[in-house]
Amino acid sequence: MRYARLQPKTDVFPHGSSKKLMKVLGIESSCDETGVAIVDSDANILADRLFSQVDIHAKYGGVVPELASRDHIRKLSPLVRECLQEANLELRDIDAVAYTAGPGLVGALFVGASFGQTLAWSLGIPSIPVHHMEAHLLVPFLHQPSGLSFPFLCLLVSGGHTMIVQANALGDYLVLGQSRDDAVGEAFDKVAKQLGLGYPGGPLIEQLAKKSVNKRDDFPRPMLDHASLDFSFSGLKTHTLLEYQKSTANYQEKADIAYAFQEAVTDTLYVKCQRAIKNTGLNTLVVAGGVSANQRLRDKFAHLSEKGINVMFPDLKVCTDNGLMIAYAGLQYAKIDKLVDEKEIKVFPRWALDG
Ligand code: KG4
Ligand code: ZN
Repeated sequence: MRYARLQPKTDVFPHGSSKKLMKVLGIESSCDETGVAIVDSDANILADRLFSQVDIHAKYGGVVPELASRDHIRKLSPLVRECLQEANLELRDIDAVAYTAGPGLVGALFVGASFGQTLAWSLGIPSIPVHHMEAHLLVPFLHQPSGLSFPFLCLLVSGGHTMIVQANALGDYLVLGQSRDDAVGEAFDKVAKQLGLGYPGGPLIEQLAKKSVNKRDDFPRPMLDHASLDFSFSGLKTHTLLEYQKSTANYQEKADIAYAFQEAVTDTLYVKCQRAIKNTGLNTLVVAGGVSANQRLRDKFAHLSEKGINVMFPDLKVCTDNGLMIAYAGLQYAKIDKLVDEKEIKVFPRWALDG
């Protein structure tokens, strides 16, 4: 079991009482963003700091794990200081430290986990290991006045994962379908590399697709003839490369190819989500993870609202990795006193959401 109940010794979590608002510090370091944020138990954002390592990795065309770990080490402490300053708080005002325990790059995770646990230990407060994808899944509720409400469906689309999830309750998730090969964000990144656009590829493909004049729309929609809710994007990626190699590779043709690729991906996601809604009877769909920043995806999914589905996206600022989503997810566990009894620093580079 992932979580053991651990009643804090001191009265730091006056659950159900109005004595004190608890404050949770969140740390994200699973990949190439160092994120730190503080939220309180009313989900007020007290501070939020993010350092993106994009410039460090861009010249390599992807994330270099060792460089990512080293830079997390450099940035974490200054970002925590900045957050405390922004929130006008001192370390002793923090009630719990949440950190990403997985999935992600092992070295990068260890930086955040050891920093977070050591900080919590030295302050005598609980630490909360957070599942990175659960944090993505929950963060769209951060800006909802009514707060978090189960059950719902979630399309999780990031650089490492593509899943349709039935979220029953906090920590109770059923994966209904997932990618059998490339994640959507990964496919965006690889296609961008093939087209010589740079990294990260998602936003670059989106921008280029806007310049398409012919609005080419003849790329295959993978696995739509398949009854399952699984996906496969690797064939579409190869198809895109072959089309690019056949073209003259001028700017306009590249834009048309980027457009055709984006249409095929977003249509596929849309159709599978429609099926998941039909199969489960759930009428709230949350779309989250880095790719949820894509405006074309947002426009298509808006059609579901016209059909009576409550479609929710995170604020653009919290679509890609950030510390706020970790603080917010940690807060949900802290609120129900569901904290982990940690005797050693553990990370889970591969961690199933329904495991
Ligand atoms: O959630 P995230 O920040 O990191 C992971 O957990 O993987 O997602 C990063 C992914 C990258 O693959 C990036 O290319 C993609 O999200 N992404 C986008 C857009 N913004 C970020 N993909 C398509 N359109 C975008 N606007
Ligand atoms: Zn992520």
